[in-house]
Amino acid sequence: MRLTINSPFDAHLHLREGDMLKTTTRFATRMFAGAVVMPNLSKPIDTFEAMERYKAQIQELSRDFEPIVALFLNEKTEEEIKRHGDRAFTVKLYPRGVTTNSAGGAVSLDEYGALFGLMEERGDALLVHGETDGEVLLREGEFAPIYERLAKTYPKLKIVMEHISTEVLANLLDRHKNLYATITLHHLLFTLDDLLGGRLNPHLFCKPIVKTAADRAALRRLAFSAHEKTMFGSDSAPHYRGCKERAGAAAGVFSAPVLLPELTRLFMEHSSAGCLRRFVGQNAKRIYNLNLPHKTVTIEDAPQTVENECDGVVPMLFGKRLAYRVAAD
Ligand code: NCD
Ligand code: ZN
Repeated sequence: MRLTINSPFDAHLHLREGDMLKTTTRFATRMFAGAVVMPNLSKPIDTFEAMERYKAQIQELSRDFEPIVALFLNEKTEEEIKRHGDRAFTVKLYPRGVTTNSAGGAVSLDEYGALFGLMEERGDALLVHGETDGEVLLREGEFAPIYERLAKTYPKLKIVMEHISTEVLANLLDRHKNLYATITLHHLLFTLDDLLGGRLNPHLFCKPIVKTAADRAALRRLAFSAHEKTMFGSDSAPHYRGCKERAGAAAGVFSAPVLLPELTRLFMEHSSAGCLRRFVGQNAKRIYNLNLPHKTVTIEDAPQTVENECDGVVPMLFGKRLAYRVAAD
């Protein structure tokens, strides 16, 4: 079996900085023609200049790869967009403190009414980490009314619910025309039992946390039908081994090394291979109006064993034998 995908796209990716940027970019360019790259670096990417600098750094390390760097939403954002009015922006909203490097995130959405109105008018996209600071299993569901209010107040604003993990948010997609969603591989594969039902696996610990079998089933229904308002977004978020295998483990799953082989296996097993191309690229191209470099990636059914560590980071499914791999060019 060989399956070829034209210009696969990852709609939510952490490439990090420093030495790690080389590792992450290597994996990203092997499998994808582009990605929406997250701005939560140690110093958030919150100006146009920082965005351009980061983009250039990524492009220096990659070939045939379009990084769409999101802008970290804060009090500077409105001015930045106005100063560069001819450019399209993707803006990432992190509620303050809910995840890695989000200490500079938004405290209250009420302060950003003018910005959201401006973005709506211009056709920019608002990408949202939708969690409150409530109880861990409830915090995504508690964000549902906030999404609904945003969707109704700014009916033309393109709002992307990032890495949805619950049935509650899955059910919002058909209720509001301007709500979209990204879905990760790990939320399609795993539930809380995989994370902590037996021995604790810190390499599956992430925000939002993986949830129940019913939640996973809701996400699978969307992905396996390539629901037109969903996009694959890996949320591959590496942390060095020492930051994961400790008390106070950092949140984030490094899934980049296994993404397309495991997505292929999962979709094949659920007789949904015909929907994979829409889920990993075509939907995003339509939703974001993307013009991606031409890149064909072929997945073949030849086994491979996942490395135990990639440049100091433990990948998801480390040491496991996978049924599929990316074919050599
Ligand atoms: C991400 C990270 O480490 O940057 N962590 C995660 O658990 N997903 C941040 C994020 O997307 O929430
Ligand atoms: Zn993320």
